[in-house]
Amino acid sequence: MIVAGVMSGTSADGINVALVRITHSSRIRTGTPSLHFLAHAEYPYPKQVRRAVLAAMNSARASVPDLARLSFLLGELYADAVLATQRRFHLKAELVGCHGQTLYHQGERASFLGRDLAVTWQTGEGAVVASRVGVPLVSDFRPADMAAGGKGAPLVPFLDFPLYRDLRVGRIVQNIGGIANLTGIPAGAAANRVMAFDTGPGNMVIDGVMLRLFGKQYDRDGRIAGSGAVLDRVISDIMRGPFFRRKPPKTAGREEFGSEFTAEFIKRCRRVDKRDIVATATALTAKSIADALRRFVLRPAGRYRDFIVSGGGACNPTLMDMLANELRPLGLRIRASDEFGLPSEAKEAAAFALLAYQTWNRQPSNVPSATGARRPAILGKISYV
Ligand SMILES: Nc1ncnc2c1ncn2[C@@H]1O[C@H](COP(=O)(O)OP(=O)(O)O)[C@@H](O)[C@H]1O
Ligand SMILES: [Mg+2]
Repeated sequence: MIVAGVMSGTSADGINVALVRITHSSRIRTGTPSLHFLAHAEYPYPKQVRRAVLAAMNSARASVPDLARLSFLLGELYADAVLATQRRFHLKAELVGCHGQTLYHQGERASFLGRDLAVTWQTGEGAVVASRVGVPLVSDFRPADMAAGGKGAPLVPFLDFPLYRDLRVGRIVQNIGGIANLTGIPAGAAANRVMAFDTGPGNMVIDGVMLRLFGKQYDRDGRIAGSGAVLDRVISDIMRGPFFRRKPPKTAGREEFGSEFTAEFIKRCRRVDKRDIVATATALTAKSIADALRRFVLRPAGRYRDFIVSGGGACNPTLMDMLANELRPLGLRIRASDEFGLPSEAKEAAAFALLAYQTWNRQPSNVPSATGARRPAILGKISYV
């Protein structure tokens, strides 16, 4: 079956569409689905849409009519993206898995009107996408995991495990999107020994600093960071913060590393050269990943050798150099997701194609050891044509 996966992450940079072929070696219930990558395309959000998405995310105040409009508008844009990809590669999906745009995610329970709740909200109306594309669609993957006691994230380990597990080599799979998250798969491990959590900022603070100080969306090819000096003092102060110390499973978003964090970060850097602030934001990502590995992954879980990187951060050479320097003493070698048959930018979108396939076949697709859920859950909601 050809399935389209549609992802738009916390960077709010745009829409990634992956087309994959999913086959079953044996009966759906017992066999493991295998995924074959076919095509990927990326569509940046138009400027005003990006602005509206960023304004709505994590906002204390928003207009309800505008949120309803945004949901239907994103539905149209997701559909356009799938249709354009199909045309471009002369392929046709039979099912779509659409993550949607997260406007708010609170994986930890907190009291609200007398009840303890963990909540999440992905927008982008599935019925619109299904209707425009003309095939059924699965959306809203996270709530079912949270209803089962999980944090609703990360969900990509369901793809990472079959794709990267190895009998002899332990592998860490690191995605660097707006937020950075890792999946640890020890050598020869069963699915219930997979660990996954958010390590902290990915590109979010770099992008935030670039916007405030240079009026740019991101630090293209890491050029500005590459010409600045890292302020180690600022990084070690920040790394003493509660998020970095908290044990996994844990999730982060704009709630932790969004505009408030960025403003405070710039203040902490004081009046240094603007390029140093971008270099420091970039180093924060590299150092917080290495720190998470040392604290939570390498010590209790045994030996790892490969470190597989995906997401937009893999396109930032300064970040990748800093990361390589951090990982060398840990005995890890960096490999690109592309070496395993899945282009690094396409991985998250491909994961949501696989999750949709599971749901369509009434099969679970959360990894309870990664999300903290009490049980496997069938994720998502189906929109029929
Ligand atoms: N050539 C590049 N140089 C530097 N950074 C890049 C480059 N390409 C992408 N990025 C970074 O990757 C981010 C997008 O990553 P992505 O994986 O799409 O994140 P998300 O899943 O949060 O949308 C951009 O906002 C930018 O910071
Ligand atoms: Mg993106």
